[in-house]
Amino acid sequence: MISIREEWEIERLRKSAALLVQTFLEIEKLIIPGVSTRHLDQIAETVIRDGGGKPAFKGYKGYPATICTSIDDVVVHGIPNDEVLKEGSILSIDNGVLLDGYYSDAAKSFPVGKISEADQNLMSTTLQALHWGIRKCRTGNHLSDVSHTIQSTVEAEGYQVVRALVGHGIGTELHEEPQIPNYGQPGRGPKLQEGMVFAIEPMVNTGTSEVEILEDGWTVRTKDRKASAHFEHTVLVTKGKPEILTIGIEDRK
Ligand code: MF3
Ligand code: CO
Repeated sequence: MISIREEWEIERLRKSAALLVQTFLEIEKLIIPGVSTRHLDQIAETVIRDGGGKPAFKGYKGYPATICTSIDDVVVHGIPNDEVLKEGSILSIDNGVLLDGYYSDAAKSFPVGKISEADQNLMSTTLQALHWGIRKCRTGNHLSDVSHTIQSTVEAEGYQVVRALVGHGIGTELHEEPQIPNYGQPGRGPKLQEGMVFAIEPMVNTGTSEVEILEDGWTVRTKDRKASAHFEHTVLVTKGKPEILTIGIEDRK
């Protein structure tokens, strides 16, 4: 069953998303060579707790940190550590907040200093695919219209979507029904209705779509060690233009 949220719940989701956005705006100032991912994680946790929220990922199935920091060939779920950021990397940050019973979830890939044109194109294509997918989040469309649009946008640029991981419904749990693959035929699956809330999250690889999990049980890396990017928004389905609850993570400074 896919939950339909009432107005009072949507208000709480907006507040949760606002705190999540605030967290991103604080940490993104610190994304420069020489800063450790653990430092970013600590700042994120402080901002979330100071805002009255809880880190949504910390403790989820034993995940040990507030944010995920996934560098270059790491697709998602990289665990923050004492290694420092290096010029030319792609750093994908995934972050979730629980506030007043409601979850929000977002991710963004950032350049560390100056990055290659190829990596810039990978990142901009991933963001574009997310936005074309989000445009399908209106009453009457089918769920797989979102998936299909993301896949087509990505493949038109010669990249591959990761198939092993999917987006998801979100609300009173971090992961709710439905699963939202980033590939598929159009016109399949449930019809979208006003009040559904989705975390849509294309993970896009330069090379093969295949991934592997490292020995830490979390880190997901591309099999061919080529770069990957990840963007995610929490989105409310409406009759008209979808409401992107986490859109503020895109305003840079
Ligand atoms: N955005 C990711 C997801 O929705 C982050 C999960 S990290 C985890 O699945 F630690 F919570 F698993
Ligand atoms: Co998510």
